[in-house]
Amino acid sequence: MRGALAATSGNDTVEIVDDLTVDEPGEGEVQVGIRAAGICHSDLSAMNGTILQRFPFVPGHEGAGEVTAVGPGVSGVAEGDHVIVAWTPPCGRCKACLRGQPNLCIDIFFAMQGTARFHRGESDIFGFAGTGTWAETMVLPAQAVVPIPADVPYDVAALIGCGVTTGVGAAVNTAKVAVGSSVMVLGCGGVGISAIQGARLCGAAEIVAVDTVPGKLDDARRFGATHGFHPDEVPQAIAEVTGGEGFDYAFECIGTAPTFRAAWDATRRGGTTVIVGAGRGDAVLSLNGFELFFSEKALLGSYYGSADVRTEFHRLIRLWRSGRLDLEGMVTARLDLDQINDGLAAMQRGAVIRQVVTI
Ligand SMILES: NC(=O)c1ccc[n+]([C@@H]2O[C@H](COP(=O)([O-])OP(=O)(O)OC[C@H]3O[C@@H](n4cnc5c(N)ncnc54)[C@H](O)[C@@H]3O)[C@@H](O)[C@H]2O)c1
Ligand SMILES: [Zn+2]
Ligand SMILES: [Zn+2]
Repeated sequence: MRGALAATSGNDTVEIVDDLTVDEPGEGEVQVGIRAAGICHSDLSAMNGTILQRFPFVPGHEGAGEVTAVGPGVSGVAEGDHVIVAWTPPCGRCKACLRGQPNLCIDIFFAMQGTARFHRGESDIFGFAGTGTWAETMVLPAQAVVPIPADVPYDVAALIGCGVTTGVGAAVNTAKVAVGSSVMVLGCGGVGISAIQGARLCGAAEIVAVDTVPGKLDDARRFGATHGFHPDEVPQAIAEVTGGEGFDYAFECIGTAPTFRAAWDATRRGGTTVIVGAGRGDAVLSLNGFELFFSEKALLGSYYGSADVRTEFHRLIRLWRSGRLDLEGMVTARLDLDQINDGLAAMQRGAVIRQVVTI
Protein backbone atom coordinates (compact mmCIF):
# COMPACT_ATOMS: atom_id res chain seq x y z
CA MET A 1 0.00 0.00 0.00
CA ARG A 2 0.98 3.65 -0.34
CA GLY A 3 2.16 5.82 2.47
CA ALA A 4 4.60 8.51 3.55
CA LEU A 5 7.84 7.48 5.19
CA ALA A 6 10.27 9.43 7.38
CA ALA A 7 13.44 7.37 7.20
CA THR A 8 15.93 9.26 9.38
CA SER A 9 15.67 12.08 11.90
CA GLY A 10 16.44 15.68 11.01
CA ASN A 11 14.48 16.04 7.78
CA ASP A 12 11.49 18.09 6.75
CA THR A 13 10.38 15.93 3.83
CA VAL A 14 8.95 12.43 3.50
CA GLU A 15 9.36 9.76 0.86
CA ILE A 16 6.16 8.47 -0.74
CA VAL A 17 6.38 4.70 -1.05
CA ASP A 18 3.98 2.08 -2.41
CA ASP A 19 5.36 -1.07 -0.81
CA LEU A 20 4.29 -0.69 2.83
CA THR A 21 2.50 -3.53 4.53
CA VAL A 22 0.56 -3.47 7.79
CA ASP A 23 -0.14 -6.21 10.36
CA GLU A 24 -3.51 -7.96 10.51
CA PRO A 25 -5.62 -6.76 13.46
CA GLY A 26 -4.92 -8.93 16.49
CA GLU A 27 -6.87 -9.42 19.71
CA GLY A 28 -8.61 -6.16 20.65
CA GLU A 29 -7.41 -4.34 17.53
CA VAL A 30 -9.03 -2.76 14.48
CA GLN A 31 -7.88 -2.09 10.95
CA VAL A 32 -8.75 1.34 9.57
CA GLY A 33 -8.77 2.53 5.97
CA ILE A 34 -7.70 6.16 6.34
CA ARG A 35 -9.67 8.56 4.13
CA ALA A 36 -8.44 11.94 5.29
CA ALA A 37 -5.45 13.05 7.35
CA GLY A 38 -4.37 16.47 8.56
CA ILE A 39 -0.87 17.93 8.56
CA CYS A 40 -0.18 19.00 12.15
CA HIS A 41 3.05 20.72 13.16
CA SER A 42 3.77 17.80 15.51
CA ASP A 43 4.28 15.56 12.45
CA LEU A 44 7.08 17.84 11.27
CA SER A 45 8.45 18.07 14.83
CA ALA A 46 8.67 14.27 15.00
CA MET A 47 10.43 14.20 11.61
CA ASN A 48 12.98 16.88 12.45
CA GLY A 49 13.77 15.70 15.97
CA THR A 50 11.96 18.39 17.96
CA ILE A 51 9.86 15.75 19.71
CA LEU A 52 10.73 12.12 20.40
CA GLN A 53 9.83 9.45 17.87
CA ARG A 54 11.30 6.12 16.79
CA PHE A 55 12.47 5.85 13.17
CA PRO A 56 11.74 4.88 10.48
CA PHE A 57 8.13 5.88 10.79
CA VAL A 58 4.93 6.79 8.98
CA PRO A 59 3.97 10.32 10.11
CA GLY A 60 0.40 11.52 10.59
CA HIS A 61 -1.69 11.29 13.75
CA GLU A 62 -4.66 13.43 12.76
CA GLY A 63 -7.00 11.28 10.70
CA ALA A 64 -10.35 9.71 10.03
CA GLY A 65 -11.49 6.73 8.04
CA GLU A 66 -13.53 3.57 7.97
CA VAL A 67 -13.03 0.40 9.96
CA THR A 68 -12.15 -2.32 7.43
CA ALA A 69 -11.64 -5.26 9.82
CA VAL A 70 -11.81 -6.01 13.52
CA GLY A 71 -9.76 -8.53 15.46
CA PRO A 72 -11.10 -10.99 18.05
CA GLY A 73 -12.59 -9.57 21.25
CA VAL A 74 -13.45 -6.13 19.90
CA SER A 75 -16.74 -4.63 21.01
CA GLY A 76 -18.21 -1.17 20.52
CA VAL A 77 -16.77 -0.70 17.05
CA ALA A 78 -17.55 -2.74 13.94
CA GLU A 79 -16.49 -3.09 10.33
CA GLY A 80 -17.90 -0.22 8.29
CA ASP A 81 -17.95 2.26 11.18
CA HIS A 82 -16.59 5.71 10.45
CA VAL A 83 -14.01 6.64 13.04
CA ILE A 84 -11.63 9.36 14.19
CA VAL A 85 -8.16 8.23 15.26
CA ALA A 86 -7.24 9.16 18.84
CA TRP A 87 -3.45 9.38 19.25
CA THR A 88 -3.60 9.08 23.03
CA PRO A 89 -6.41 6.62 23.72
CA PRO A 90 -7.75 6.11 27.23
CA CYS A 91 -7.45 2.61 28.67
CA GLY A 92 -10.32 3.28 31.11
CA ARG A 93 -8.59 1.49 34.01
CA CYS A 94 -5.39 3.30 35.02
CA LYS A 95 -5.08 5.95 37.74
CA ALA A 96 -5.23 8.81 35.20
CA CYS A 97 -8.39 7.43 33.58
CA LEU A 98 -10.09 6.73 36.90
CA ARG A 99 -9.44 10.19 38.28
CA GLY A 100 -10.97 11.76 35.16
CA GLN A 101 -7.83 12.72 33.24
CA PRO A 102 -8.00 10.19 30.38
CA ASN A 103 -5.85 12.39 28.11
CA LEU A 104 -2.97 11.63 30.49
CA CYS A 105 -3.39 7.86 30.14
CA ILE A 106 -0.12 6.33 28.93
CA ASP A 107 -0.87 2.62 29.13
CA ILE A 108 -2.02 2.15 25.54
CA PHE A 109 -0.11 5.13 24.17
CA PHE A 110 3.31 3.84 25.23
CA ALA A 111 2.55 0.33 23.96
CA MET A 112 1.41 1.75 20.59
CA GLN A 113 4.52 3.89 20.29
CA GLY A 114 6.83 0.97 20.86
CA THR A 115 5.18 -1.42 18.40
CA ALA A 116 6.00 -1.29 14.69
CA ARG A 117 2.75 -2.15 12.89
CA PHE A 118 4.00 -1.21 9.43
CA HIS A 119 6.64 -3.11 7.47
CA ARG A 120 8.58 -2.64 4.28
CA GLY A 121 10.20 -5.86 3.15
CA GLU A 122 12.03 -7.14 6.22
CA SER A 123 12.14 -3.71 7.90
CA ASP A 124 9.86 -2.68 10.74
CA ILE A 125 8.26 0.75 10.36
CA PHE A 126 6.77 2.61 13.31
CA GLY A 127 3.84 5.01 13.18
CA PHE A 128 3.92 8.52 14.66
CA ALA A 129 2.80 8.40 18.26
CA GLY A 130 1.80 4.80 17.53
CA THR A 131 -0.64 5.86 14.79
CA GLY A 132 0.60 6.81 11.28
CA THR A 133 -2.34 8.28 9.36
CA TRP A 134 -0.29 9.15 6.25
CA ALA A 135 -0.79 5.60 5.02
CA GLU A 136 -3.76 3.95 3.34
CA THR A 137 -4.40 1.41 6.05
CA MET A 138 -3.40 1.12 9.67
CA VAL A 139 -3.94 -1.12 12.67
CA LEU A 140 -4.75 0.28 16.10
CA PRO A 141 -6.01 -0.82 19.50
CA ALA A 142 -9.82 -0.50 19.44
CA GLN A 143 -9.61 2.25 22.08
CA ALA A 144 -7.67 4.41 19.58
CA VAL A 145 -10.68 4.85 17.30
CA VAL A 146 -13.84 6.74 18.18
CA PRO A 147 -16.91 5.86 16.06
CA ILE A 148 -18.74 8.89 14.67
CA PRO A 149 -21.90 9.43 12.61
CA ALA A 150 -21.37 8.43 8.97
CA ASP A 151 -22.53 11.79 7.60
CA VAL A 152 -19.61 13.74 9.09
CA PRO A 153 -17.21 14.51 6.20
CA TYR A 154 -13.86 12.81 6.59
CA ASP A 155 -11.89 16.06 6.34
CA VAL A 156 -13.89 17.64 9.17
CA ALA A 157 -13.51 14.47 11.23
CA ALA A 158 -9.76 14.33 10.62
CA LEU A 159 -9.21 17.82 12.05
CA ILE A 160 -11.02 16.84 15.22
CA GLY A 161 -8.47 14.05 15.68
CA CYS A 162 -5.80 16.49 16.85
CA GLY A 163 -5.71 20.22 16.11
CA VAL A 164 -9.30 21.08 16.94
CA THR A 165 -9.53 18.94 20.07
CA THR A 166 -6.16 20.32 21.21
CA GLY A 167 -6.90 24.01 20.62
CA VAL A 168 -10.58 24.17 21.56
CA GLY A 169 -9.86 21.95 24.56
CA ALA A 170 -7.00 24.18 25.74
CA ALA A 171 -9.49 27.04 26.09
CA VAL A 172 -12.57 25.11 27.19
CA ASN A 173 -11.09 22.32 29.32
CA THR A 174 -7.56 23.27 30.39
CA ALA A 175 -8.02 26.99 31.05
CA LYS A 176 -11.82 27.06 31.37
CA VAL A 177 -11.83 30.59 29.92
CA ALA A 178 -14.34 32.71 31.82
CA VAL A 179 -17.12 34.68 30.13
CA GLY A 180 -16.06 38.25 29.40
CA SER A 181 -12.35 37.66 29.81
CA SER A 182 -9.43 38.85 27.68
CA VAL A 183 -7.43 36.28 25.71
CA MET A 184 -4.25 36.35 23.67
CA VAL A 185 -3.39 33.46 21.33
CA LEU A 186 0.17 33.28 20.02
CA GLY A 187 0.42 31.30 16.78
CA CYS A 188 -2.51 30.97 14.39
CA GLY A 189 -2.04 27.56 12.80
CA GLY A 190 -4.64 24.82 13.18
CA VAL A 191 -4.09 24.64 16.93
CA GLY A 192 -4.10 28.41 17.55
CA ILE A 193 -7.17 29.02 15.37
CA SER A 194 -8.91 26.27 17.34
CA ALA A 195 -7.91 27.95 20.62
CA ILE A 196 -9.42 31.17 19.26
CA GLN A 197 -12.63 29.31 18.46
CA GLY A 198 -12.58 27.75 21.92
CA ALA A 199 -12.20 31.18 23.55
CA ARG A 200 -15.12 32.42 21.44
CA LEU A 201 -17.24 29.46 22.59
CA CYS A 202 -16.39 30.37 26.19
CA GLY A 203 -17.58 33.94 25.67
CA ALA A 204 -14.27 35.79 25.87
CA ALA A 205 -14.74 39.53 25.34
CA GLU A 206 -11.43 40.24 23.62
CA ILE A 207 -9.50 37.64 21.64
CA VAL A 208 -6.15 38.87 20.35
CA ALA A 209 -4.44 36.84 17.63
CA VAL A 210 -0.65 37.07 17.31
CA ASP A 211 1.28 35.71 14.33
CA THR A 212 4.34 36.63 12.29
CA VAL A 213 2.38 36.15 9.05
CA PRO A 214 0.09 39.15 8.45
CA GLY A 215 -2.50 37.13 6.49
CA LYS A 216 -2.99 34.92 9.53
CA LEU A 217 -4.32 37.86 11.50
CA ASP A 218 -7.08 38.37 8.92
CA ASP A 219 -7.79 34.62 8.99
CA ALA A 220 -8.04 34.70 12.77
CA ARG A 221 -10.80 37.32 12.66
CA ARG A 222 -12.98 34.88 10.70
CA PHE A 223 -12.81 32.50 13.67
CA GLY A 224 -13.51 34.97 16.43
CA ALA A 225 -10.39 37.07 16.99
CA THR A 226 -11.28 40.67 17.78
CA HIS A 227 -7.75 42.02 17.22
CA GLY A 228 -4.59 40.94 15.41
CA PHE A 229 -0.97 41.91 16.13
CA HIS A 230 2.54 41.03 14.94
CA PRO A 231 4.66 39.51 17.79
CA ASP A 232 6.73 42.73 17.94
CA GLU A 233 3.53 44.61 18.74
CA VAL A 234 2.55 42.54 21.79
CA PRO A 235 3.38 45.40 24.22
CA GLN A 236 1.08 47.62 22.12
CA ALA A 237 -1.63 44.94 22.28
CA ILE A 238 -1.32 44.77 26.08
CA ALA A 239 -1.58 48.55 26.30
CA GLU A 240 -4.45 48.98 23.84
CA VAL A 241 -6.60 45.99 24.75
CA THR A 242 -5.98 45.57 28.50
CA GLY A 243 -4.92 49.08 29.54
CA GLY A 244 -1.41 47.77 30.26
CA GLU A 245 -2.44 45.10 32.75
CA GLY A 246 -1.97 42.02 30.56
CA PHE A 247 -4.39 39.33 29.46
CA ASP A 248 -6.51 37.10 31.65
CA TYR A 249 -5.31 34.17 29.53
CA ALA A 250 -2.43 33.75 27.08
CA PHE A 251 -2.20 30.62 24.94
CA GLU A 252 1.13 29.67 23.39
CA CYS A 253 0.45 27.60 20.25
CA ILE A 254 3.93 27.60 18.63
CA GLY A 255 6.38 25.62 20.78
CA THR A 256 9.53 27.76 21.24
CA ALA A 257 11.23 29.16 24.35
CA PRO A 258 10.87 32.85 23.32
CA THR A 259 7.16 32.44 22.70
CA PHE A 260 6.64 30.56 26.00
CA ARG A 261 8.16 33.64 27.64
CA ALA A 262 6.11 36.02 25.50
CA ALA A 263 2.91 34.25 26.58
CA TRP A 264 3.93 34.45 30.26
CA ASP A 265 4.81 38.14 29.92
CA ALA A 266 1.49 38.91 28.18
CA THR A 267 -0.47 37.35 31.06
CA ARG A 268 -1.72 39.73 33.78
CA ARG A 269 -0.93 39.23 37.47
CA GLY A 270 -3.24 36.46 38.64
CA GLY A 271 -3.93 35.37 35.07
CA THR A 272 -3.28 32.06 33.33
CA THR A 273 -0.59 31.12 30.80
CA VAL A 274 -1.34 27.97 28.81
CA ILE A 275 1.45 26.19 26.92
CA VAL A 276 -0.02 24.21 24.04
CA GLY A 277 2.96 24.28 21.66
CA ALA A 278 5.20 21.20 21.76
CA GLY A 279 8.80 22.35 22.13
CA ARG A 280 12.21 20.73 22.18
CA GLY A 281 13.58 19.22 25.38
CA ASP A 282 16.16 22.04 25.50
CA ALA A 283 13.65 24.86 24.91
CA VAL A 284 13.80 26.23 28.45
CA LEU A 285 11.47 28.78 30.01
CA SER A 286 13.21 30.63 32.87
CA LEU A 287 11.13 32.19 35.62
CA ASN A 288 12.73 33.99 38.52
CA GLY A 289 11.83 33.61 42.17
CA PHE A 290 10.33 37.06 42.45
CA GLU A 291 8.04 36.95 39.43
CA LEU A 292 6.77 33.48 40.35
CA PHE A 293 5.17 34.53 43.63
CA PHE A 294 4.60 38.21 43.01
CA SER A 295 2.73 37.67 39.75
CA GLU A 296 0.53 34.86 41.11
CA LYS A 297 0.16 33.62 37.53
CA ALA A 298 -0.95 30.08 36.81
CA LEU A 299 1.22 28.26 34.30
CA LEU A 300 -0.60 25.33 32.72
CA GLY A 301 0.56 22.77 30.21
CA SER A 302 -2.17 21.50 27.93
CA TYR A 303 -2.00 18.01 26.44
CA TYR A 304 -4.53 16.88 23.80
CA GLY A 305 -6.95 19.54 24.97
CA SER A 306 -7.31 17.96 28.44
CA ALA A 307 -10.07 16.07 26.64
CA ASP A 308 -11.75 12.71 26.95
CA VAL A 309 -11.79 11.74 23.28
CA ARG A 310 -14.77 9.38 23.79
CA THR A 311 -17.05 12.31 24.57
CA GLU A 312 -15.12 15.33 23.26
CA PHE A 313 -15.11 14.25 19.61
CA HIS A 314 -18.92 14.02 19.73
CA ARG A 315 -19.28 17.36 21.49
CA LEU A 316 -17.12 19.01 18.83
CA ILE A 317 -19.16 17.39 16.05
CA ARG A 318 -22.34 18.82 17.59
CA LEU A 319 -20.79 22.28 17.90
CA TRP A 320 -19.76 22.02 14.23
CA ARG A 321 -23.25 20.86 13.17
CA SER A 322 -24.91 23.77 14.91
CA GLY A 323 -22.56 26.25 13.24
CA ARG A 324 -20.75 27.28 16.40
CA LEU A 325 -17.44 25.74 15.34
CA ASP A 326 -16.13 26.44 11.83
CA LEU A 327 -14.14 23.42 10.71
CA GLU A 328 -14.50 23.57 6.90
CA GLY A 329 -13.18 27.13 7.06
CA MET A 330 -9.96 25.86 8.64
CA VAL A 331 -9.08 23.71 5.62
CA THR A 332 -6.72 25.90 3.61
CA ALA A 333 -5.87 23.21 1.06
CA ARG A 334 -6.78 19.67 0.07
CA LEU A 335 -3.81 17.61 -1.07
CA ASP A 336 -3.15 14.08 -2.15
CA LEU A 337 -0.36 11.94 -0.74
CA ASP A 338 2.07 12.97 -3.53
CA GLN A 339 1.75 16.63 -2.49
CA ILE A 340 2.52 16.12 1.17
CA ASN A 341 6.03 17.66 0.96
CA ASP A 342 4.51 20.79 -0.58
CA GLY A 343 2.10 20.81 2.35
CA LEU A 344 4.92 20.49 4.89
CA ALA A 345 6.75 23.39 3.20
CA ALA A 346 3.61 25.56 3.19
CA MET A 347 3.11 24.90 6.90
CA GLN A 348 6.70 25.97 7.63
CA ARG A 349 6.08 29.24 5.78
CA GLY A 350 3.07 29.81 8.05
CA ALA A 351 0.97 29.99 4.90
CA VAL A 352 -1.83 27.67 5.99
CA ILE A 353 -4.25 26.94 8.81
CA ARG A 354 -4.77 23.25 8.16
CA GLN A 355 -4.18 21.09 5.11
CA VAL A 356 -6.05 17.86 4.65
CA VAL A 357 -4.55 14.98 2.71
CA THR A 358 -6.93 12.63 0.93
CA ILE A 359 -5.52 9.18 1.45
N1 LIG B 1 -0.25 20.13 23.37
C1 LIG B 1 -0.68 19.23 22.48
O1 LIG B 1 -1.30 18.22 22.83
C2 LIG B 1 -0.44 19.49 21.03
C3 LIG B 1 -1.23 18.86 20.06
C4 LIG B 1 -1.05 19.21 18.72
C5 LIG B 1 -0.08 20.12 18.35
N2 LIG B 1 0.68 20.69 19.31
C6 LIG B 1 1.69 21.70 18.99
O2 LIG B 1 1.03 22.96 18.81
C7 LIG B 1 1.88 23.80 18.03
C8 LIG B 1 1.07 24.41 16.90
O3 LIG B 1 0.71 23.41 15.97
P1 LIG B 1 0.06 23.81 14.57
O4 LIG B 1 -0.19 22.54 13.84
O5 LIG B 1 -1.02 24.79 14.76
O6 LIG B 1 1.32 24.57 13.88
P2 LIG B 1 1.37 25.52 12.61
O7 LIG B 1 2.77 25.45 12.11
O8 LIG B 1 0.26 25.23 11.68
O9 LIG B 1 1.07 26.97 13.23
C9 LIG B 1 2.03 27.71 13.93
C10 LIG B 1 1.74 29.19 13.70
O10 LIG B 1 2.63 29.96 14.50
C11 LIG B 1 3.12 31.05 13.73
N3 LIG B 1 4.39 31.46 14.31
C12 LIG B 1 5.61 30.90 14.17
N4 LIG B 1 6.52 31.56 14.91
C13 LIG B 1 5.86 32.56 15.54
C14 LIG B 1 6.25 33.58 16.45
N5 LIG B 1 7.51 33.71 16.86
N6 LIG B 1 5.30 34.42 16.91
C15 LIG B 1 4.01 34.32 16.51
N7 LIG B 1 3.58 33.37 15.63
C16 LIG B 1 4.50 32.50 15.16
C17 LIG B 1 3.18 30.52 12.32
O11 LIG B 1 3.15 31.57 11.35
C18 LIG B 1 1.92 29.65 12.26
O12 LIG B 1 0.80 30.39 11.83
C19 LIG B 1 3.04 22.92 17.57
O13 LIG B 1 4.12 23.09 18.47
C20 LIG B 1 2.48 21.53 17.71
O14 LIG B 1 3.48 20.54 17.82
C21 LIG B 1 0.52 20.40 20.63
ZN1 LIG C 1 -5.80 4.82 31.34
ZN1 LIG D 1 -1.28 17.10 16.25
